[in-house]
Amino acid sequence: METTILPAGDEASRTRALDLLGEGGLVALPTETVYGLAADSTNGSAVARIFEAKGRPSFNPLIAHVADRAMGEAHARFDDVAAALAERFWPGPLTLVLPARPGSAIHPLVRAGLDTLGLRMPRGVMGEIARDFGRPLAAPSANRSGRVSPTSADHVRDGLAGRVELVLDAGPCGLGLESTILKVADGAVALLRPGSLTAEEIETFLGRRLETAGEGIQAPGQMASHYAPAGRVRLQATHVDPGEHLVAFGPAPLRGAEQAASILNLSEAGDLREAAARLFEFLNRLDSPLVERIAVAPIPDEGLGRAINDRLRRAAAPR
Ligand code: TXA
Ligand code: MG
Repeated sequence: METTILPAGDEASRTRALDLLGEGGLVALPTETVYGLAADSTNGSAVARIFEAKGRPSFNPLIAHVADRAMGEAHARFDDVAAALAERFWPGPLTLVLPARPGSAIHPLVRAGLDTLGLRMPRGVMGEIARDFGRPLAAPSANRSGRVSPTSADHVRDGLAGRVELVLDAGPCGLGLESTILKVADGAVALLRPGSLTAEEIETFLGRRLETAGEGIQAPGQMASHYAPAGRVRLQATHVDPGEHLVAFGPAPLRGAEQAASILNLSEAGDLREAAARLFEFLNRLDSPLVERIAVAPIPDEGLGRAINDRLRRAAAPR
């Protein structure tokens, strides 16, 4: 794949970006903080491609970028505090982690299986493209995993050349530091990540101190057995015991598969992108008191398979 850089101001560049997003492609788009690696948030395979391009060994939840608050309301619940924060600081460098609305069209992979959704209304090209696209754009910072966030189109190309179809270039980002992330739940406001909007400014507006992630609110990456199904999960299964529910991968049936209580195949074709897009939906479907034992076929531990296996290990972790 060739990576094209086009000026963000041109009508033709934007049309190209919208076409690519509609086809499930990846487009790097500037915001006031850093460049983001954007995809259609409702398209699971497109979202899986984001993780693939970043080379991440685990699924971190992604921020959904919206054009306005109304677009956000369709996918998450704003309580009074969240609504006031959005009213005061959007558009701007503030991400709100809010309870996801059941039935939201945003693909569960964006939330990495959590029941909360990170939402942000950015300034600049990303928000304008989200408006014209008519749907939220899932986007992490447009860097390879473990590298610094990109503040220019050249940074994006240096890190992601050949992994992203298009970069819209609007020059250097004004702020250069990522958004501040707040989790708002049950009236409590916790700082999950310090960022461009200072905690002091938020505290002054709220008239109270922010909690920190340590105070009872889980920070990303610490969700050891979050969203694990109720039943016992057996990984790397090479056979199926009678009555086990099977999560399969690839075309070859496991030994004993005919004795399975049910079979869900992450990808008949053995395609890791398809598997990533289905993983959280399957874990959710299997999360039932009626499902006591789940066997999971081996998943190749390469590329997206590493993130899938990381999540499966968490799902299988003792709790
Ligand atoms: O300024 C920014 O925030 C940039 C621009 C592109 O918007 N984006 C960015 O994305 O920095 P990323 O993926 O590099 O960092 C997003 C952070 C991650 O640490 C992720 O864990 C957290 O947001 N996050 C997203 N949704 C979350 C959720 N539901 N619960 C907890 N943390 C969440
Ligand atoms: Mg980042």
